[in-house]
Amino acid sequence: MMSQPTNIINYEKKINEMPQGSPPDIPKLMPGGNYIRIGKDSAHSTCILFAPFAEEVGVLAKFLSVFNKYKINLLHIESRPSLKAPENYEFMVECEASQHLGTAINELKDISEYLQIISRDYKDNKDSVPWFPRRIRDLDRFANQILSYGAELDADHPGFTDPEYRARRKYFADIAFNYKHGQKLPHVDYTKEEVETWGKVFRQLTSLYSTHACKEHNHVFPLLVENCGYREDNIPQLEDISNFLKDCTGFTLRPVAGLLSSRDFLAGLAFRVFHSTQYIRHPSKPFYTPEPDVCHEVLGHVPLFADPDFAQFSQEIGLASLGAPDDFIEKLATCFWFTVEFGLCRENGDLKAYGAGLLSSYGELKYALEGTAEIRPFEPAKTAIQKYPITEYQPIYYVAESFEDAKEKMIKYAATIPRNFGVRYNAYTQSIEVLDSKPHIQRLVNNISSDMSILVDSLRKL
Ligand SMILES: [Fe+2]
Repeated sequence: MMSQPTNIINYEKKINEMPQGSPPDIPKLMPGGNYIRIGKDSAHSTCILFAPFAEEVGVLAKFLSVFNKYKINLLHIESRPSLKAPENYEFMVECEASQHLGTAINELKDISEYLQIISRDYKDNKDSVPWFPRRIRDLDRFANQILSYGAELDADHPGFTDPEYRARRKYFADIAFNYKHGQKLPHVDYTKEEVETWGKVFRQLTSLYSTHACKEHNHVFPLLVENCGYREDNIPQLEDISNFLKDCTGFTLRPVAGLLSSRDFLAGLAFRVFHSTQYIRHPSKPFYTPEPDVCHEVLGHVPLFADPDFAQFSQEIGLASLGAPDDFIEKLATCFWFTVEFGLCRENGDLKAYGAGLLSSYGELKYALEGTAEIRPFEPAKTAIQKYPITEYQPIYYVAESFEDAKEKMIKYAATIPRNFGVRYNAYTQSIEVLDSKPHIQRLVNNISSDMSILVDSLRKL
């Protein structure tokens, strides 16, 4: 049996159990032969976004003098035209944690037209919004805030006592740890043994796809064979896959060194970025993996990310998560679990699988469509609170009528998340627009009217 691999279960408890303090900059060998201890938050910094009342000479110096007065170290400063107050400028200052920060912020509020606090330590500051990436390159900032690294394997992991496998896992983790946005995804020369393991999984799973996988998966799979080297004797390279997905839907892959928190993992989806592992399971158990590996990612997840409706559905979950309270992050992660990981859909009355946890598990893929498990319609508000096991087959599956339908339901559900701003992804600047002011929304309305004119014009020409 292959267990249900996941990269999204709630690790918050595990994070909280980790020792606090400044994490190391580079992976560190820990007692027991494990590498790394990245803490709860590798950047205990707070970002403050503010605009002065009016444009005046030396305005930034006035603000900086407040930080100086309270001896607060600034890590980064940037300025841009304010989208919220179009005549004005907006400043973003990232500062180190300090006991005087609260006092300084109060002083800054008095001289700002608006001020917003964005912090990883949002639980201690009721005025702050949980930190989320605004630009695609911000994903570099949490890529290494992970809970386990490379050779750190649990005692029951098939590779636990295999030093060669652990060294290999560290090799893959190092690739991801050093990766930065915009770089090519490093090419990996997989060993003969790794390719053989892949071949066994590939052969077994592909025998089921024509009857068990949804039509979107089956539609894309031959293209992956043709363009990305999906073959029994070849493990495809993430770089080739990422380029292919970018052409199809704008989705890209990023290597990940370990397990991300649900909040960070979901935030990646808002940018159409999927964090993917690159290592393969241990050769002693080719049909079992206790965690996501390259088989799970490239056979299970990748084909669906090439489908425009599914890509949009996945992005909606990501957008809904930005700045959302913790309990909603858990609910969104559960929706992700029952859709992107274990979702079923209906095709001409028959059930088919589109979840990656199913499409990468021969045993569960057969089981899920046998009719033994309970089937329920996907309703985000109900699905989001359903408990689920992570080490055995799912007792309940949720069925989507279509990805379009699932997306509409997710958008409606996202509107119930308590958040005093809307968000929109700007694909031109690869950044998140926070819609919390009239000028912002007016600009969006203008964009929509321009799209409407193109639409009307095209319809007329048909
Ligand atoms: Fe997954």
